[in-house]
Amino acid sequence: MDQAILDVMAKIEMRNEREKLRGLSDGADALDPAAAKLLYILAIGSKAKHIVEVGAGVGYSTLWLAAAAKASGGRVTTCEINSAMAAEARRNIEEAELTDYVEILVGDARQTLRGQDGPVDFHFIDATFGHYETFLDVVYKRLAVGSLVIVDNVVENAFEVDDYITYVQNHPNLDSQTVSIGDGLEITVRIA
Ligand SMILES: C[S@@+](CC[C@H](N)C(=O)[O-])C[C@H]1O[C@@H](n2cnc3c(N)ncnc32)[C@H](O)[C@@H]1O
Repeated sequence: MDQAILDVMAKIEMRNEREKLRGLSDGADALDPAAAKLLYILAIGSKAKHIVEVGAGVGYSTLWLAAAAKASGGRVTTCEINSAMAAEARRNIEEAELTDYVEILVGDARQTLRGQDGPVDFHFIDATFGHYETFLDVVYKRLAVGSLVIVDNVVENAFEVDDYITYVQNHPNLDSQTVSIGDGLEITVRIA
């Protein structure tokens, strides 16, 4: 991976660690690095071309997804409701020289994604827990068989996302597995 990308990732990881040590709840709140790398591997391995993310934050997971998009000739559309966070994500993406691979939709993903069309083959959700099902539903019709949907925090915040887990694990067109990495990822594939 390009040094410019690794440098920005390392900067956010250090900031995230500092904020966690201070117990800050309103910081970067970036994805666990190992979980982020797994996303990157899955996105490249599945040759994802149309990646959608809900919850860019300051852009840490977006950088991993954009690096995968760069490797597989794809693009990332990421959604962020907080305009200050979106601006910071934009600066980080620019610094990593990944601007050509990312579009940022500023606003509530439940609305911004409704105005979008075209296929989605990789959907990552890392935003308000109570809305996970809606974040999936707004892109569901755009997901072909084989598309992946991955959400974060399913172990760390299990009681807040249990409805979502029940939904994807019992959906006739989906197959799904909880993976204990970082705060826990639910990895779901559309099978019909
Ligand atoms: C845990 S942080 C995301 C961290 C990011 N994925 C990373 O690894 O750097 C969650 C983000 O979701 C955003 N968010 C929450 N609800 C949202 C919504 N309805 N639409 C878009 N973004 C939302 C928050 O503003 C916050 O920045």
